[in-house]
Amino acid sequence: MFCSRLFLTAACLLLGSAFSGAQNFPLSSVNALSTERVVTCDDLDNVQRLSCDSGVIVVQSVLYGRSDTETCSEGRPANQLTNTSCAQKGTLEVIKKRCDGKRVCEIRTNLVRTSDPCGGIYKYLDTTYACFPAIHSVTCEQSLANLHCDAGQVIYVYGADYGRQDQTTCSFRRPAAQVQNVYCSSPTNKVAESCNGKNTCTVKASNSVFGDPCGGTYKYLDVSYICQYAALKP
Ligand SMILES: *[C@@H]1O[C@H](CO)[C@@H](O)[C@H](O)[C@H]1NC(C)=O
Repeated sequence: MFCSRLFLTAACLLLGSAFSGAQNFPLSSVNALSTERVVTCDDLDNVQRLSCDSGVIVVQSVLYGRSDTETCSEGRPANQLTNTSCAQKGTLEVIKKRCDGKRVCEIRTNLVRTSDPCGGIYKYLDTTYACFPAIHSVTCEQSLANLHCDAGQVIYVYGADYGRQDQTTCSFRRPAAQVQNVYCSSPTNKVAESCNGKNTCTVKASNSVFGDPCGGTYKYLDVSYICQYAALKP
């Protein structure tokens, strides 16, 4: 996908969301609150941190590779900078699935370093994301999540995660052992697949729908979405 920095507007977003298979329902009538870019040089276990002061993350473009000779060039020999059309495929989907819909998202660069798109070249991870206003819906395990919009509007899911990331959410009358694991994250496209484009939508927060990312932990489904006017037909 081509998405230049001059072009980070609604048009670019439409391309971005059409590109991501599971969320092919377009984000049409909502404006981003801000747009950010973060570049992380490819050192072992470096962490790239995305965050929104308000709203939630919607990743727009990701490059793992090299597209110029300047970025992350300090102290590097020239022959590690020569290939400026080096990009690993599939990285956008990986980062979108992990980060879209969250307020903060940290990615270890070794997550995207699954293969080497250009041996001998010093690479970096270059991510552009926007922050969008969002409605949060949290549903404890075994309950039903009800997403709903006003008449004439439809749901657009930015992201959903079934798991546990803190000890307080959905902890009432739960034994400590069931709320201790706060590193249980399982981002899912299933909510987007079944709810996008609908006025209301019900999804059960359960292992039968999402699988069990951490046995023995009492989980919850965290969804961020927005209501937008139904997309105009072309
Ligand atoms: C640069 O890397 C890409 C892979 O991302 C490769 O297809 C291309 O041939 C390389 N170009 C040069 C000049 O080495």
